[in-house]
Formats: sequence, structure tokens, C-alpha cells
Amino acid sequence: MGKSVLNLSFQKVREIDLPCLKTLLPELGKFYDGHENSRFFDQLVNKEKHDSNGYFTLKKEIWIARDHEDQCCGFICLNYKRGNTVKIGPIIVNPANRGQGVGKFLIKSSLEKLNKESVRKVYATTSSENTPATDLFKKSGFRLEVELPEQYRKGNKELIWGYFFDFPKEIFVNENSLLQAQVIEKASSLKTVNFDPKADSQHLKKVISVIKEWHEDIDSSFAEQIIKASERGLDFETKGKLILTIKDQDSKFCGLAIAAPKRGGAVKVYPLYGVKNALHLLVEALKSKFKHLGYRKLYTFSHANDEKYIEALTSLGFTLRGDISSPYKSGHDLAVLDLFI
Ligand SMILES: CC(C)(COP(=O)(O)OP(=O)(O)OC[C@H]1O[C@@H](n2cnc3c(N)ncnc32)[C@H](O)[C@@H]1OP(=O)(O)O)[C@@H](O)C(=O)NCCC(=O)NCCS
Repeated sequence: MGKSVLNLSFQKVREIDLPCLKTLLPELGKFYDGHENSRFFDQLVNKEKHDSNGYFTLKKEIWIARDHEDQCCGFICLNYKRGNTVKIGPIIVNPANRGQGVGKFLIKSSLEKLNKESVRKVYATTSSENTPATDLFKKSGFRLEVELPEQYRKGNKELIWGYFFDFPKEIFVNENSLLQAQVIEKASSLKTVNFDPKADSQHLKKVISVIKEWHEDIDSSFAEQIIKASERGLDFETKGKLILTIKDQDSKFCGLAIAAPKRGGAVKVYPLYGVKNALHLLVEALKSKFKHLGYRKLYTFSHANDEKYIEALTSLGFTLRGDISSPYKSGHDLAVLDLFI
């Protein structure tokens, strides 16, 4: 790769850059199933102003690498998340300017800016088929945390990259667990029931109080936002969600799962909470529901130190893929597990 001769400056996107962004975006389609440019563009640009559907994304900023003739050579999108992290993506360089250090410049400039803003962690994901992007993050100091097979589409892997300005000094063991210990006398009486906002909000809040231990920034509006998302249908573009609960013969609450289908064929199931038999029923219900809708896999997170819960998930068919360092709260690592359906 040659050294940059472009004399670049790092600037926030302006109205005049939008045509340039629009011509660059189709580049990403080849790495995702279900990628549709016009909607993706609208999401990116409109949500730079306000992300109305996402809870975890607080704001998006688009920054441009501009050359000495004021031309846009590429852009980077910075997605500010709750828990004081930023997700980079997409980053796209004008094909005519590739291999000249523009990508590295965009990442280095972003890291300098985010360090000044005291962001805790920066992360990104790439497709294993995308060698330039994978090499770019590696060479920019990012560490490979987890590889998830067939997350975006068949035959490839999603690589998750992390960058810390300061590594967490202390790692905590979990006090709460998503696996509930009590024994259900009549396990055969357990039933999967659709979430009823009136009757079940208290249960949803209880589950949220469990994961709050390893999420820094969950507030009281989280439950309401999830309930709203469950009323939007199951479209990944609108970030729709499905909530299922498990009840026993006396309508006693025994488990709950929140499922969010993602672009490319995977379904995020998190949190997945309950007694062991309830977890089994939830997973079976989600498998059949999403297989029918054409999805390929489920994935979920556990506190990385919760061995009993991880064991319960693996006995249900999940595979442990590795740990992500402090994704939502400093000192709390999460394990990622997935299950092909
Ligand atoms: C990925 C991308 C942003 C890289 O931008 P770039 O400006 O060409 O990258 P740079 O010139 O700064 O190169 C940085 C490093 O990336 C790697 N790299 C860049 N192009 C590469 C290529 N064609 N093959 C292999 N590695 C490559 C090199 O390791 C390079 O480091 P080096 O200069 O020390 O050798 C660019 O290829 C692109 O826009 N791709 C299409 C969009 C995309 O896939 N974006 C990522 C998804 S979010």
C-alpha cells in the first residue's frame, strides 16, 4: 500500500457530500443477504439526525475524508451507543482512492476524536470475505474478539473487533443469572404464551433488572421501548421484536425471551431468561417461528462468568463462540452463543 499523498482533512459530513455517500453505499451489498440500498441509505442519513427505533444507538455521526481539492474520498459512520461505546460502520472509501491510506486515516482520526470524548470502547464488525476491511481494522490496532459463522450470509463469518483506549482494570463475576434455579413440579404443564403488555410488564421489568448488572445505561424507558418494538411486526429494518413468555398451569411466570431478527438471516435472542424447562420451550418456539420466516440461526449473550447458564444453553444446542470484552459495562465480559435452526 502506498503512503497517502492526498493531504486529507477529517470533516463532519455536509449536505454537498450526500450524492457521494449515495454512490458509495452499494459497495456493502455484496457482504449481506437482504441488503437494499435505498432503505439502507435512508436509515443511515435520516438517522444521523434521529434514530427513532433503536434504543441502544444514541446518535450517529458521519465524517468525511476530504482531499486538498475539497473532494470527498470516503466516509465513516460513528454510531454512539449506550454504555459509552461507539460502533464504527460502515466505512467506505471511494474506489479511485483505495490503497492510499484513506481508510486508515478515517479510523485514526475517529479514534483521536473518540478518545478526546472519553468513549470507553470502539468496536466494528467485518465479513471474513472482506479482506481489505478485516486488514484495515487489524492494522488500526483493533483486536479480534469473536468469530460468528454465517451471521450475515451462508459460507462466511462475522468478525467482531474491539479497541480500548484503556483496558478494564477489574473483571467482575456475575451476581445475577438469566437461568432461574427453582424446580417446576409439573414441567409438562408449561406453556408458551404471547406477551401481554398489561399482565406481563412486571415480568419484563424483572428480567431487565437481571441484565442491568452488566448494562451500564439501561433506564426506565427500556421496557416501554421493547414493548413498542413488539408492536412493529418482525421486520429488521424497523427493528421489530417478538416477546414470548412461559407460564405454568397456574399462570405463574417461568420464562421470557426477546427476539430481534437482523439483516442477513440471524435472530438475536436476548435476554433469554427462565428455568431450564422454560428455556427449552422458548428456544423450540423461536426455532420453529424463525425457520418458517426464512432465518438461519439464533444467537444470544450470557455473562461470561455464568457457567451454569452457558451449560444450560449448550445442552439446548447452542455453541459457545467466545467472549466480548466489556461490551455494555466496564469489567463485565459477555459470552456469545449461537444455534443453527
Ligand atoms: C475497506 C476499505 C474502507 C479500506 O480502505 P482503504 O483506504 O483502501 O485502506 P487503506 O489504504 O487505508 O489501507 C489500510 C490497510 O488495509 C489493508 N488493505 C487495504 N486494501 C486492501 C486490499 N485490497 N487487500 C488487502 N488488504 C487491504 C492493508 O492492510 C492496509 O494496510 P497497509 O497500508 O499497512 O498495507 C475500502 O477497501 C472500502 O471502501 N471497501 C468497500 C467498503 C467496505 O467493505 N467497507 C467495510 C465494511 S464496514
